[in-house]
Amino acid sequence: MRVLVTGGAGYIGSHTVVSLLASGHEVEVVDSFVNSKPTAIARIEEITGATVPLHHVDLRDRAALGRLFGERTFDAVIHFAALKAVGESVAQPLRYYENNLGSTYTLLDAMAEHGVRTIVFSSSATVYGAEAPVPYTEDFDRLDSSSPYGQTKVMVERILTDVAVADPTWRIALLRYFNPVGAHPSGLIGEDPQGIPNNLVPFIAQVAVGRREKLSIFGGDYPTKDGTCERDFIHVDDVAEGHVAALQAITAGDPLVRAWNLGSGEGTSVLEMLHAFERAVGHELPHEIVERRSGDLPAFWADPTRAAEELGWRTSRTIDDMCVDTWRWQSGNPEGFPD
Ligand code: UD1
Repeated sequence: MRVLVTGGAGYIGSHTVVSLLASGHEVEVVDSFVNSKPTAIARIEEITGATVPLHHVDLRDRAALGRLFGERTFDAVIHFAALKAVGESVAQPLRYYENNLGSTYTLLDAMAEHGVRTIVFSSSATVYGAEAPVPYTEDFDRLDSSSPYGQTKVMVERILTDVAVADPTWRIALLRYFNPVGAHPSGLIGEDPQGIPNNLVPFIAQVAVGRREKLSIFGGDYPTKDGTCERDFIHVDDVAEGHVAALQAITAGDPLVRAWNLGSGEGTSVLEMLHAFERAVGHELPHEIVERRSGDLPAFWADPTRAAEELGWRTSRTIDDMCVDTWRWQSGNPEGFPD
């Protein structure tokens, strides 16, 4: 298939482009580079030996997007492009709603106008909100996230569902990721956060490489196995392969809109993750337990049954794989991608 990947230079997008190419798809990328670098595409080409046409367009630029769809032919779109920092979204809600919803409107308009009605959407476990019972199952329907970022995921899922009701020829996958970490085993692509990382594994990796003094663990008194929060960490290459499987499934069967969890089904604590990273690096890493971070849930993980049954997909990489691969990427690229 000819697949357009929005945000294909970003963390999960770049790994998904590699998986798509490995599965024999043709891929083009559209990216605004607000939070990524074109170097990521050069690295993908180095890994795969393929040429990946790159379009430097902000999806909200209706005219430029119309030209792109007019000039090229696509069978499907995988839509990653979005702002994604939870804390920033609380401080700048309008920017998040305007960007994440606005870009989706223009994308869906351009797709409909050019007869492309197959889309895989990058959603998040954050759509389940604080009330959902653990493990999270896809049929929990009171979606309500705690942050404007997460709420944009809830809203885009709703928009896509309404689009499918209005025109039942659409084929739509909503993929709810748990906590993607890790990097491609080549060490050539990986997560490259701007500024101080908000997320656990990028922060640990920067401590390990000497860019940060020590890890602050947010809370040691949760009702969990060791007092620290538990999350369902999933290797980014497993997430990437989940997209290939979802694309295959929605194009093979009848048109539909359907959500699938992409998670392992297992909770790993913050301390367990730190210790796994220490094993990868070969020595202990400085850390201290501090106050809880506001808004954190104690523990959640996926029920991954639906994706296993319907997509034939399940995770295959371990916590140690995630840490070894992250460390290979971080130690080889201490400052992230070069310009
Ligand atoms: C958050 C978002 C999720 C988003 C994900 C990746 C929510 C509810 N979840 O997940 O939507 O997809 O980020 O962007 O908004 N931790 C520390 N020290 C640190 C950093 C994190 O102890 O320096 C702890 C946190 O307290 C948490 C765990 O590590 O218990 C994981 O945190 P993080 O990586 O930020 O992911 P989530 O908050 O689970």
